[in-house]
Amino acid sequence: MADVLDFFISKFRSNLDLPNEPSPYYRPRPYRNAAVRFRNCSPSDFEERKDILIKEAGLNTFLFRADKIPGCDLLSDSGTTTMTMEQWAAMLLGDEAYGSNEGYFELKDQVGATFGPAWRQRSGLGVGEREPLFIFHQGRAAESAFFTVLSRELKRKGFPAPKPLSKDLIPELRSRIEHRIKAVKGQTVGPYEPYFVVPSNSHFDTTEGNIEDKFMVPVNLPCREHLAGDEGFPFRGNMDLEVLENLLESEPERVPVVYLTITNNTGGGQPVSMENIKRVRDMTRRHKVPFFFDACRFAENAWFIREKEKGYAGRAIEEIVHEMFEQVDGFHISFKKDGLGNIGGAICLRDESLFTKRFPRFPNELTDFQIMTEGHPTYGGLAGRDLKALAEGLRTVTRQDYLNLRIRQVQRFGERLTALGIPIVRPIGGHAIYIDVDAFFDGRARDEELKGIAFTGLLLIAGHRFCELGLYAFGAFDGAREIPPEPRVNNIRAAVPRLAYEDRDLSAAAEAVKLLYDHRDRIPAVRVDYGRDLKLRHFKSRFSFVI
Ligand code: F0G
Repeated sequence: MADVLDFFISKFRSNLDLPNEPSPYYRPRPYRNAAVRFRNCSPSDFEERKDILIKEAGLNTFLFRADKIPGCDLLSDSGTTTMTMEQWAAMLLGDEAYGSNEGYFELKDQVGATFGPAWRQRSGLGVGEREPLFIFHQGRAAESAFFTVLSRELKRKGFPAPKPLSKDLIPELRSRIEHRIKAVKGQTVGPYEPYFVVPSNSHFDTTEGNIEDKFMVPVNLPCREHLAGDEGFPFRGNMDLEVLENLLESEPERVPVVYLTITNNTGGGQPVSMENIKRVRDMTRRHKVPFFFDACRFAENAWFIREKEKGYAGRAIEEIVHEMFEQVDGFHISFKKDGLGNIGGAICLRDESLFTKRFPRFPNELTDFQIMTEGHPTYGGLAGRDLKALAEGLRTVTRQDYLNLRIRQVQRFGERLTALGIPIVRPIGGHAIYIDVDAFFDGRARDEELKGIAFTGLLLIAGHRFCELGLYAFGAFDGAREIPPEPRVNNIRAAVPRLAYEDRDLSAAAEAVKLLYDHRDRIPAVRVDYGRDLKLRHFKSRFSFVI
């Protein structure tokens, strides 16, 4: 049975002898290493990793021990940032008072400075009253609070009676909504007809999970250029404005809020243009629907606007960020990405906005929920020292030299994979490379073979961790067969942690991918041993190779 694994291990072993190439990057980095961490495992421990993968982790990359990864751990760019010495220094000065600690005020001021005048707190008003900042321990806790309180406030206004979807919906959108309604209904207890629809360019999986958990229907409206795989289009993260207009026109009462995820993680880490942001703002204003960002990678998105959008060349990143955030009624954010933190998240609500006018009780209800779950709004489940690190991180993340280094490194990694012939989503996004699994297997892998999972398993034996964000993560099992996500997404993601790796590390991972690509016909199928029909199944399932 193990022949094919032995085959790959012998290939991986031969890779270890490749010469170390000089980095093609001659411009000095804007920082130098101030601390390093030695690994306690070796690239040549292939047999040990194979055993761990099969026996301990059940081929699930989430369940593989990080201390046994000698190469690049690209499972996520979230919370994996190497913090700066400035952040560590700020942490030492953390104020661990129970309420209103020093870090809270620092973070609040920094949120105003980073996101712009609309997000500065009005002085003299109480917590939960006109306060824009609600702190949470990470992004999904903020999402959970947001959708919990939103569903309560919608209920308070009197739930509309169930009714069939409007006949004016364009068929493609109708089918997408029906598809999702089925999934949501599968999770309800008792008869319940999901009513509210929450559109986005693409929701992240936890956002989707939190929306569904409140029996609302998340729906993704990525732009046509993205769906067509247009490699020359610089803003593939955009929302499909035509489809959004159709939704808002045909079903205005069903949409409590419209989202843009910046950058669009699920859709390939692609940026959203300022023009698209402003047009969504205009459309939502016209239809009187609140407009929010999922703002995790806001600084990276601003970098792309400066780099690629007409009229923004040479503008300061800070200014572009202010202009982006001027357009929205609120946002939630995981500070584990562009907060450069290892932990942290927030909801920010704009004072006197369409959202707070429509849901005037929301800030106070949110505060209550926060106190019951995370803690007082002035610390929100975080230590005072964490708040200090986040304030410092937000100061650094909009630096032009940092962003140049960060995004160009991801792009060089992608270019290297492209040069090696690997099909990736292009143009290359800000935080990750997405390998197109369908193209990788030349369209010959059948959905139920789940070869994306086999690929990530073999790559772990090679010593690098990527993750499947495709048929398994976003699809579902209907009891008889695998149902792919609609619109279809079938990627493997390599998310690059901030300030953690050098080009040579990423090159080593690229070479391992190339080796798998050269022998893709030998990559086996996998069988799901556990969890196929569970919600959020990719975090929990176990698999084995079919060999
Ligand atoms: N929204 C987006 C767009 C995200 O990418 C994430 C997390 C979240 C929300 C949730 O934030 O992790 O702090 O709870 N993305 C990570 C990833 C996990 O690997 O892409 P969180």
